[in-house]
Amino acid sequence: MASLKLAVLISGRGSNLQSLIDACAEESFPAEIVTVISNVHGVKGLERAHKAGLPTVVIDHKEFKDRENFEDALHDVISGAGADLVCLAGFMRLLTGDFVRRWQDCLINIHPSLLPAFKGLHVHEKVLEAGARFSGCTVHYVRPDMDSGPIIVQAAVPVHGDDTPDTLATRILEQEHRIYPLAVRLIASGRVRVENERVIIDGAVAPDAGMINPAED
Ligand code: GRF
Repeated sequence: MASLKLAVLISGRGSNLQSLIDACAEESFPAEIVTVISNVHGVKGLERAHKAGLPTVVIDHKEFKDRENFEDALHDVISGAGADLVCLAGFMRLLTGDFVRRWQDCLINIHPSLLPAFKGLHVHEKVLEAGARFSGCTVHYVRPDMDSGPIIVQAAVPVHGDDTPDTLATRILEQEHRIYPLAVRLIASGRVRVENERVIIDGAVAPDAGMINPAED
């Protein structure tokens, strides 16, 4: 099977980018990264990409007169690199409906909660404030509304009584690094389709392949 070409969009640390770099380094992994795009100069994620020998581009949103111009540049770089799938990995710019529709079902994101709960920023603080017993992470197709769209893979983690936002974030991040490559692998293997705004994997609506329960490891 031909390798699925990924554009990975980052704004910072890039640990999820690293999980994709590591997955793509495995010979049997059905995807490859063709470009890493950051909207911020000098971030750690760019360093990771350089180290892996990947092409990088910085598209600084501050250099554009408006969101549309910025997104046109983004679109051109992604298309020019020949990417089939755009992976948002800690990309901290909201994308307009126009951009999202141009990449309909070819644009995915990772979010550190069990969506649709706890959208937006300061997720772990909100989880602790709410007294939720479980949290986790989600890889989903992107839709124009923030942190919404058909769910591809989720992993759940317990919330402990003595958790701080940092300890919870660390427990969840570990699972993020498992589910992002898993979601890409499922898509790249042609096992995922979207039907009525729900993801079907291998023909099933609530597939085992789309759930990681670390408690069962
Ligand atoms: C992750 O927690 C991701 O879920 C969220 O932003 C964070 C990015 O971390 N969207 P990193 O840059 O991948 O290390």
